[in-house]
Formats: sequence, C-alpha cells, structure tokens
Amino acid sequence: MECGIAPFRQAIPDLTARPRKHTGARGPLWYPPPASERSRNQPVTPNVKHHVADLGLSELGRQKIEWADRDMPVLAQIRERFAKERPLEGLRISACLHVTTETANLARTLKAGGADLMLVASNPLSTQDDTAAALVQEYDISTYAIKGEDDETYYSHLTAAIDHAPHITLDDGADVIGVLHGDRREMLDGIIGGTEETTTGVIRLKALEAEGKLAFPVVAVNDANTKHMFDNRYGTGQSTLDGLMRATNILIAGRKCVVGGYGWCGRGLASRLKGMGAHVIVIEVDPLAALEAVMDGFEVLPVAEAAKEGDIFITATGNIHVLRREHFEHMKDGAIIANTGHFNVEIDIPGLEELSDGSREVRPFVQEYVLRNGRKVYLLAEGRLLNLSAAEGHPAAVMDMSFANQALAAEYMAKNASTLENTVYSVPADIDAEISRLKLASMGVEIDALTDEQQKYLASWDQGT
Ligand code: NAI
Repeated sequence: MECGIAPFRQAIPDLTARPRKHTGARGPLWYPPPASERSRNQPVTPNVKHHVADLGLSELGRQKIEWADRDMPVLAQIRERFAKERPLEGLRISACLHVTTETANLARTLKAGGADLMLVASNPLSTQDDTAAALVQEYDISTYAIKGEDDETYYSHLTAAIDHAPHITLDDGADVIGVLHGDRREMLDGIIGGTEETTTGVIRLKALEAEGKLAFPVVAVNDANTKHMFDNRYGTGQSTLDGLMRATNILIAGRKCVVGGYGWCGRGLASRLKGMGAHVIVIEVDPLAALEAVMDGFEVLPVAEAAKEGDIFITATGNIHVLRREHFEHMKDGAIIANTGHFNVEIDIPGLEELSDGSREVRPFVQEYVLRNGRKVYLLAEGRLLNLSAAEGHPAAVMDMSFANQALAAEYMAKNASTLENTVYSVPADIDAEISRLKLASMGVEIDALTDEQQKYLASWDQGT
C-alpha cells in the first residue's frame, strides 16, 4: 500500500454477527437482520452496524446535516477532492467524536475518501439522536451513539470502536486511545496513527508520551491555529451561552457570571457574557492568563471570593474540582453552576451531593440541590459540557475549520505514518495556512500580498533609522 501501512493483524469484525446481550440505556444493539428475517414490506434496512435511539428520526437528521453543510464550505471542498482521490481507501477508521450534524459532515468526508468508518459518541450527553439515525439510514455509516446513554453503554460503544480494528483513530478527549493503551493493548499493532480534537485529549496524550508509552503517532488537531483560535474561543463562547439560555431561559444582563479559566474557551465565553450585559468575574491559576483577563477589563478574584459573588458559574479549565464543597457552601441562594470543559470533573458533584439533602430535576438539564444551609444551587447538564448537552454544540462555521483539520490530518497520517515517531505532532503549518486561505475565500474576504519591496525589507537587517 502506498502509505506503508503494516498489514493488520486482527480479524476483521464479522458484520453479520448477531448482537450480544446488552443492557444499555435504550434500545438493543442492532445489526442488519439476516435475509430470512426481512420482509418485502419492511422499510429499507440499514446496511451498517449501529446502536442509535430511533431510526425514524433519520429524515430530520438528514435535513439538519445538510443545513450545517451549507456553513462548511472548506470541508465540502475537501470532500469533493477526497471523492476523486480516495486517500483513505482500504483504511478502517474509528472516530470517537461528539455525534452532531457537523461531525456527520466530517464522517461523510472520510467515507468519501474511501475510509471504512465507525463513529461512536465521545460523551454520553452530546449525541443528537436524529443525526445518529441519519448517519446510519441515509449515509450508511456505522454509528453507536444515544443521547443520555449510561456509562456501561458508553463504554460498550468504545468497545465497538476498538472492535472495528482501526488503522486510524480519531478522538475527542482521548478515550479510545486511553482504552487501547489500557485494556485493549492487543489491538495496538494494527494502528498506524491517530488524531485528537481537544485540549484535554492533547494533555492526556502528552502525559502518555512523557511516560514513553504512546504506541503510535498522533496529530494534535487542537493545536492548529485554525482550530483552537476559532472553535475553542468563538465556538465555545457562543454555544455555551446558547446552552445556558436554552437550559434556564434566564436573563444574562445584570448577572454576575464567574468564568473558570481564561484560556481559549474562557476568553471566548467571558467576552460573550460581557457582550450580553453580564458582570464577568474570572478565576485563574496562571498569572499571565489572569493578567490578560484584568487588562481585558474583567474582575479577577480567587475562587473562594468569587463563590460568594456569583449568580452563574461556568468552568472551562480542563482541570479537576475547580468548584468544590467549600465553594458551594458560600454560594448565594439560587446560584447556577455549569461546566463547558471536556470532562464532568471540574465541579465536585459528589461533594455537592454530600452537602445536600437531596436533588430533583426542575427543568431538562437543570438539577436543583437543596443544601443543608437552606440555600438552593442549580447544576446544569450533570456538569457535562453545557454547550453540547443543552444546546447543539458549536456552530458549523467554526467546525468547518476544526473538521477540515481532522480530515487533512487523517490524510496526512495515511500518507506519512510510516515515517513518524510515536509522539504527539502538531498539524503541519501548511495545512493550517491552507485552511485559513480557503476559509477566507469562502467568506469572500480578500487580503493583500507583500510587495517585492516589503518582502525584501522584512528579510533585511541593514535598514534602520
Ligand atoms: P486552555 O489551556 O487554553 O485554558 C485553560 C485555562 O484554565 C488556563 O488558562 C489555566 O490556567 C486555567 N486553569 C487551570 N486550572 C484552573 C483552576 N483550578 N482554576 C482556574 N483556572 C484554571 O484550555 P482551553 O482550550 O480553553 O480548553 C479548556 C477545556 O475546554 C478543556 O477541557 C477542553 O478540552 C475543553 N473544550 C471544550 C469545548 C466545548 O465544546 N465545550 C471546545 C474546546 C475545548
């Protein structure tokens, strides 16, 4: 094979195998029934393995996927080229991503490139059930994802992704790679490389690399400028506010909002909250990030102080237990707490439960905790990513760039894996630059080019005062 892929040593999964007994949240694992079980009057039976909530939602899902595609012109161009060149032909890819309309368009692109793709959810609450149905029914893509799936189902889906015997993995949070390096090491030999979508996943991979244990090369898609500068900042900023408003329908103006972390996501969130009229307080541990927040006009406080002040708290740190017992105890009655960082560890939920006499759902995605001091606090979306749980995740226009990076990183891996070390790579600079160029062109924005004189000037040292 042109890309120097080692022959895969595992058996290809048997697509006709019958389901194993399954105790998931909703619905049985579903495989195409044998011909003897099909009747002529049945609706078209999906050809691919799947575990989704309701295939009847597929038409709605297809409409939404097409709507998102209108705002994803860079990815569409890549899809067109992939369909002609088939750079992923013969490769099995297991993608563990948030199953949203934008991801569906990435999945279509990888399939157009020739990949044998399996898509599973990267979070129990982020799946759009209509999108998952359409992926199976309309686009023939194996999909395992159900909104609200329990942990057991979530891990059974990860298992399905690994049983797909991938040559390439696409992760959002490094869960597939985590399991591969833990319980499923026997599958490592067949893998040529992977990609990682988010900050937290890249941190996990770098930790694996630092221990000398990373078993194949991985491209850190998150580190591309055309990813984190737009997706993490503008995407998370807007969609987290969207999640907050859809879950609570509260007025933002005049509220004191505490933003945890002033990184790429936190900056986007803080500036959008400010734009809506909130009084924003930032909590940080990094002096440089805190200084930037101060200079951007935000109040910066230690978390213990901010806890007493805030009406709304949203964490975006990628760190554990940023809000914990000693903070909940001092919060105002009616405080709202949420997270938009990758994992549901930023808020110490067991600590909150221990402080409370009980909790109840008062609206979808809003859990009321009655503390023993008599105050109530409201936890949104089980402390999981608010934007993907209570809203639809990032708008397509930013995911266009993130997923253009994913598609091109997968192609890069297919072509170059045999020459790469087992380490975490940045997206090649020419891919990043090309995506900016294509995105600007798609927006009809033209820019200037350096004149010869300017180029010469910038390369010289002898022209001073
Ligand atoms: P970043 O590294 O740019 O920023 C994180 C910031 O949090 C840093 O400035 C750090 O100093 C600060 N921080 C760490 N521990 C803290 C603590 N205990 N208290 C206060 N501040 C603390 O990371 P980025 O890109 O902003 O990502 C943040 C999280 O959001 C990650 O888990 C990432 O995977 C996730 N993410 C979520 C998205 C979504 O759709 N909701 C989209 C993109 C990223």
